Amino acid sequence: MDESKQGTSYIESEVVVPEGMKLAYIETYGCQMNFSDTEIVASVLKDMGYGFTSNEHEADLVFINTCSIRDNAESKVWKRLKNFRKQKSDNPGLMVGVLGCMAERLKTKLLDEEKLVDLVVGPDAYRDLPRLLDEVEGGQRSVNVLLSREETYANIAPVRLNSNGVSAFVTIMRGCDNMCTFCVVPFTRGRERSRDPYSIVEESRQLYDQGFREVTLLGQNVDSYKWSPDDSLKGKAQINKAEAKGEEIDVINFAQLLEMVANVAPDLRVRFSTSHPKDITDDVLHAMAKYKNICNYIHLPVQSGSSRVLELMNRGYSLEWYKQKVDRIYELIPDCAISTDIITGFCTETEEDHEKTIEVVNYARYSHAYMFAYSERPGTPAAKKMEDDVPEADKKRRLAEVIKLQNEISRERNLADVGKEFVVLIEGNSKRSEHDWCGRNDQNKMIVFPKQGDLKPGDYVIVKVKDATSATLLADMVSAEVQW
Ligand code: 5AD
Ligand code: SF4
Repeated sequence: MDESKQGTSYIESEVVVPEGMKLAYIETYGCQMNFSDTEIVASVLKDMGYGFTSNEHEADLVFINTCSIRDNAESKVWKRLKNFRKQKSDNPGLMVGVLGCMAERLKTKLLDEEKLVDLVVGPDAYRDLPRLLDEVEGGQRSVNVLLSREETYANIAPVRLNSNGVSAFVTIMRGCDNMCTFCVVPFTRGRERSRDPYSIVEESRQLYDQGFREVTLLGQNVDSYKWSPDDSLKGKAQINKAEAKGEEIDVINFAQLLEMVANVAPDLRVRFSTSHPKDITDDVLHAMAKYKNICNYIHLPVQSGSSRVLELMNRGYSLEWYKQKVDRIYELIPDCAISTDIITGFCTETEEDHEKTIEVVNYARYSHAYMFAYSERPGTPAAKKMEDDVPEADKKRRLAEVIKLQNEISRERNLADVGKEFVVLIEGNSKRSEHDWCGRNDQNKMIVFPKQGDLKPGDYVIVKVKDATSATLLADMVSAEVQW
């Protein structure tokens, strides 16, 4: 998934806190899914009467929502937990908890060996927080890391603590059944299950009514979204089994879900992440082409350009197959932007394999990429069966080469946009100046332009690009009249 926010702390709030109200401070690491989960946790805590603070020192409860995807993500969390232990020695009443992906993997170390935290709660156990916090208040350490085949938090309304009021994440599925050999997610987040589509549409409608103008449908692998109204078919594996037996069952797939959400309102932008190249269908691409408000942007992780390495990664496609998918996307949606994830230095990767990765980056001409050196994760198929044998220096050098190439391509692609007009959804002030707005175009490119007229976040405008860097387009406003 897109991990642009890794390490960012989660901040709230300007609300006036009633006397005696307990305050929670939540810090989130990892992917968008984790940030979305924090909003579920906030909802459960709010129902328990908690308020929220951005100041860890005034909190009664500190939660870290953790990520296990690479070793350095976990290292950051250990460092933070050691800080909180110091804080706890000044304030013994402070409760400290670990949420999310490190919970199951490291519960014993967290609770018993290092005795760093009071509670450990896995991604499927957030409904249990009232009971767990009760136990902690009663002087015990508490833990629930059970993974579920059913939990989708469908009826919990997320509290949008850190929101710009314009764009929101809507989780549509949880877990992952793919078993990419490098990836810890199937172990930390469990089996794949899809959320009731009607609750997704309802949440999107409510967001629209509150003034939001963009929803991003989130899942580890959105293209394998599959939901059946039959209560006995909760997980994707069960639905697949019934379909394989030739049973006639009602199923809503991702392409259908996209259309349902797109129909909420013509000026509600719909985005989604992450797509798996082996699962994205023509139906999804046709839905994108048909609806103006489904954004022309696909995050399509390739991971490696070498078919041999892809096989070892258990990705389920070859380089040729991936290239055909890219061709098909550009054929059906010519102005589509594609971004990707790349891992350098996976087990046995040779210079020749690396050249293939360079080749696919040149071929796909990604608008953006998240690039990482391989980091072995305990318990994954790769850790069990393969040797992490590429020297660290080679992993890093190959990574630097891919990053350099991608930066050049991003810059070239952005410069090719100079002179073009785009519809932008205003998200807020630009980072650099309160005299400029920033917002994204359909292709997810950030555009900055001088403020003009009486506009606000959530408004759409047409701008004309005048300059570009590898990360941002600079523009001038052309019109505030956008036709839907
Ligand atoms: N090492 C490095 N990168 C990884 N990713 C997942 N697991 C690992 C790992 N063990 C990357 C993949 C994935 C993204 C979310 O993180 O590129 O798509
Ligand atoms: Fe997200 Fe994966 Fe990190 Fe969990 S391990 S927070 S699913 S990126």
